[in-house]
Formats: sequence, structure tokens, C-alpha cells
Amino acid sequence: MRSQVAIIGAGPAGLLLSHLLHLQGISSIVLETRSRADIEATIRAGVLEQGTMDVLTAAGVGERMRKEGALHHGFELAFGGKRHRIDLHGLTGKSITVYPQHEVLKDLVSARLAAQGTILFEVSEVALHDVATNKPYVTFRHNGEAQRIDADFVAGCDGFHGVSRPAMPDQATRQDYQKIYPFGWFGILVESAPSSEELIYAQHDRGFALVSTRSPTVQRLYFQCDPADKVDNWSDDRIWAELHARLENHDGWKLKEGKIFQKGIIGMRSFVSTPMQAGRLFLAGDAAHIVPPTGAKGLNLAVSDVKVLTAGLVEFYRNNSEAVLQTYSETALKRIWRAECFSWTMTRLLHTFADATPFEREMQRAELENIAASPALATALAENYVGAF
Ligand code: FAD
Ligand code: DHB
Repeated sequence: MRSQVAIIGAGPAGLLLSHLLHLQGISSIVLETRSRADIEATIRAGVLEQGTMDVLTAAGVGERMRKEGALHHGFELAFGGKRHRIDLHGLTGKSITVYPQHEVLKDLVSARLAAQGTILFEVSEVALHDVATNKPYVTFRHNGEAQRIDADFVAGCDGFHGVSRPAMPDQATRQDYQKIYPFGWFGILVESAPSSEELIYAQHDRGFALVSTRSPTVQRLYFQCDPADKVDNWSDDRIWAELHARLENHDGWKLKEGKIFQKGIIGMRSFVSTPMQAGRLFLAGDAAHIVPPTGAKGLNLAVSDVKVLTAGLVEFYRNNSEAVLQTYSETALKRIWRAECFSWTMTRLLHTFADATPFEREMQRAELENIAASPALATALAENYVGAF
């Protein structure tokens, strides 16, 4: 097989890249180890920045997002028994949409297939070759047969555990940055009406909690937990007791309970691998960087990487120039580091660190009080959250 771009991974980064390239007349083949049903059912992100919505809309895959997604103009910070609203739209002129990542994936997969795009699901033994040369190729197995794609470029969009980052040909000089947090998030899906019109990010001595939503009948809730804990240790009753304790406040607001139909624990890390290009191999999305989910940035960063990479590839095929591609890593990393900073800040601000001194706990509370008291600080938070720049 031959294609201009071989894309490893059918997550948001790989599928969007394939679609944006197609719109510019550039061919690609997407390889994915999992099945279509599996990627379309995996519950992950929920918050789309305005810039992400704009990219999806401009690419013609935003119709269902606009119809079924919920536009949120603000969110609440809860601490010390009170709630304080961050007026995203009032402070920045921008809003966010809560629309599940797997619905974005469904929209992208159907757009690719409708345009006769090639996505090969359930491939195995994916290996990258000669990526330091102008004739890279990828080998893999599909339907039991050994296959090969020859390409001009390879895009590594295969997430944190993929094969692309280890295949970067500059291993000796690469620089990785990492921070692993001493906690994780326990996430649940619940059949109930929303408890709140907007997301609630809650700081509490017992640990962080987050009230999010998926639809008028399905809610998404998270709470800080031990990353080594087991889902089986958490009965439904124990989960509700913990959420009530962390979300309790003095204004009579009550969390609505319902049938819990999904439970999972995710670990939390900050990670950046640099540079994001070596030879003809380009990394995008979680393959190159991870943020803790507190700032809701992961999916949005994958989209912004892909936007930058598409511009470079278009320049190459239109004007036979690699100038824009050569600046891909530098351009993408500027936004990535700022999002890393925001995600770390939100994580620090809202989680309970077991080893924090009483002084550090008071500093955390004072920082929240400062945001609640200062429109300037609230604006800075809102600008980062909506991705205003
Ligand atoms: P992925 O989605 O990981 O996709 C990579 C794909 O590559 C996968 O389908 C994988 O199966 C495939 N693959 C792996 N190895 C290979 C291989 N060898 N060959 C071929 N294919 C391979 N982000 C936000 O912006 N907002 C949020 O609200 C948010 N909330 C989150 C909540 C949770 C619980 C979690 C876990 C994440 C959240 N994120 C959020 C982060 C977001 O989900 C990720 O950043 C996003 O999925 C990154 O997309 P990606 O395409 O780079 O990688
Ligand atoms: C969701 C996930 C996040 O990481 C976040 O900050 C807000 C919402 C969600 O899955 O709904």
C-alpha cells in the first residue's frame, strides 16, 4: 500500500488529522489496534474548548456536537462549604461545550468512511521503519496478513502507550519531562438528571470531586482516590457517601443519586516528550504529552497539535517546502507547555496532598479565596480554561 501520510492511531488526533488532510487533498491511511466498536465506546474526555469546536465545525464534523453537546458559559469552584461561579463567557467572551470524546470519534469515523477514507481497525505488530529517511514505511498485520504502507510521512497519534514515541530515531538526545501525582481519579457514569447546570470543581479535605455531565439523563462524576485502589473496593453506597461528603455545602444544594453503570480509576501524570519531530516522524496528542485531567486540556491539545501539523503538511504538498514542518515541534510545544502549566496549577489548587503541611493547606485555601475575590485572577483562570489564546 502507498499513502502520502501513514497515521498510527485512530484517537481524536489520528482521525482528525486524516480528515483535515483529506479536505486538503492529501491521502492518508489510519492504523488502529482496537476495533471500531471499542474506540467508539471508550469513555474519556468531555470538555471541548471553543477553538476545538471551531476546528470541528470548519471541518464539517460539528453538526451533532452543536445539536447534542451542552454549551456551558461558566463553572463553579466549591470550597469551604461555598460555591463560587467562574463566569467563563462574561470574563472571556468564550464558552466550552460538554460533548463526549467517543461521540467526537463517532463523527470523525463516519466522516472518514463516507469519504472512502481508509481506517484499518484491529491491526497488530505495528512497526515503523526508516523514519529518519524520506522513504519511511510501516509494517503491521491485518486480517492475519503481513502488510506494509510506504509513505512520505508518518504521524504518531497512538497515545501514551503507543509504538511511535519509542520509534523516534533521536532516542539518545531526546528530553522527556514527567511528574506523576500521588493520586488518581475514580470516575463513574450515573443514570440521573443533572445535579447542576454547570460543572462543579470541588476542593475538600477528603479530596477533590468533580460534577460533570454527559446528557440530560447521564451524569459523569469523579473523585480523587488512591491510584492503586481497586474499583471493587468501592460499593455504590460508599461512592455516594464520599461524593456527598466532598460536595456538601451551606446553600442546600444536593447531589442527585442514580444507578451507577460504569466505574473506573485513572492515574494522573504530567508528561512532555521533546522534540515532537525527528526525520519524517511527527508525534501528536497523547503520544507526545499528557496532562492531568483537572484542566480538561488533553483532547483539546491533541486537536491543536493536529491543526499545526496539517498546516505544515499542506505547505509541503502545495509549495514543496518543509519550512513550516520544521517548526512544528516548536510551535506546538509553546501551547503544550502553557496547558501543562494550567493543568498542574488546577491540580495543585484542587487536590488534597497527603504530605501537605498545615501551612500549605492554608495557602491552598487562600489561593481559592483570592480567585473568588479577584476578577483579575478569575479572568486568568477563565482564559486558560476556555483556551482563549
Ligand atoms: P488516544 O485517544 O489515546 O488515541 C490513541 C489511539 O491509538 C487509541 O485508539 C489506541 O488504541 C491506538 N493505538 C495505540 N497503540 C497503537 C499501535 N501500536 N498501533 C495502532 N494504534 C495504536 N481531555 C480533554 O481535553 N478534556 C477532558 O475533559 C478530558 N477528560 C479526560 C478524562 C479521562 C477520564 C481521561 C482518561 C482523559 C481525559 N482527557 C480529557 C484526555 C483525552 O482523553 C486525551 O488527551 C485524548 O484521548 C488524546 O487523544 P489522542 O488521539 O492523542 O490519543
Ligand atoms: C470532564 C473531564 C475533565 O477532566 C474535566 O476537567 C471536566 C469534565 C468530563 O469527563 O466530563
